[in-house]
Amino acid sequence: MSTATLEQPPAAEAAIQSFTVTFLIRRFDPDVDTEPRWQDFDVEMYATDRVLDALHKIKWEQDGSLTFRRSCAHGICGSDAMRINGRNRLACKTLIKDLDISKPIYVEAIKGLPLEKDLIVDMEPFFASFREVQPFLVSNSTPEPGKERVQSVAERARFDDTTKCILCAACTSSCPVFWTDGQYFGPAAIVNAHRFIFDSRDDNAQTRLDILNDAEGVWRCRTTFNCTDACPRGIEVTKAIAEVKQAVMRGKP
Ligand code: SF4
Ligand code: FES
Repeated sequence: MSTATLEQPPAAEAAIQSFTVTFLIRRFDPDVDTEPRWQDFDVEMYATDRVLDALHKIKWEQDGSLTFRRSCAHGICGSDAMRINGRNRLACKTLIKDLDISKPIYVEAIKGLPLEKDLIVDMEPFFASFREVQPFLVSNSTPEPGKERVQSVAERARFDDTTKCILCAACTSSCPVFWTDGQYFGPAAIVNAHRFIFDSRDDNAQTRLDILNDAEGVWRCRTTFNCTDACPRGIEVTKAIAEVKQAVMRGKP
């Protein structure tokens, strides 16, 4: 006969407290509003909750019309980049305990792209620039039947950093040049060009370099480092742009 008994949770666990956090969210409904407006919501949260959890609670419990994008909820899909307290971040990667909750937390859509509704912007201009740099492998040779295109560890490492991009647009929409000139390719497109320009298996680097050696290409970058600070994947975006600038001048190394 079993003598096991149900254990009580440890005192520390039982004492975990929730608290009220105020969120100020910049709302915009194109059917009703002529201008965006700020709306406040009080939400019961735990320190380990994320801003995305707050948005879910607001939508599910207070105002079902709140509109935002998210998919994976784990920093992989890149769909929930937004400005949180004036900084571009992923809502699913921003913990409440890392924010100052003695003041309201401001949440708004990323800047520089057309606002569609609440926290959603039209991403098409962003993806148009991405597509323009030909973000895919172009090779003039065919591998032997049944063989892969071989690459050394050092050759793979050359572009490893820029393979991490999740196309969240946090970098591009934090760039002051992009805010004032929506034609600029922007950091994310250059990062994705970098990923293939420096791939030893690719034969189309010069085409991409010519595309980026344009009035709206790499030379618009003013090296403000906003993009590097904003990237949730820790990509050295400004460094990647500098390497593409060098390749434009000297050719693919
Ligand atoms: S470089 Fe970083 S910030 Fe820019 S789109 Fe890619 S993951 Fe997002
Ligand atoms: S929801 Fe996918 S990255 Fe945040």
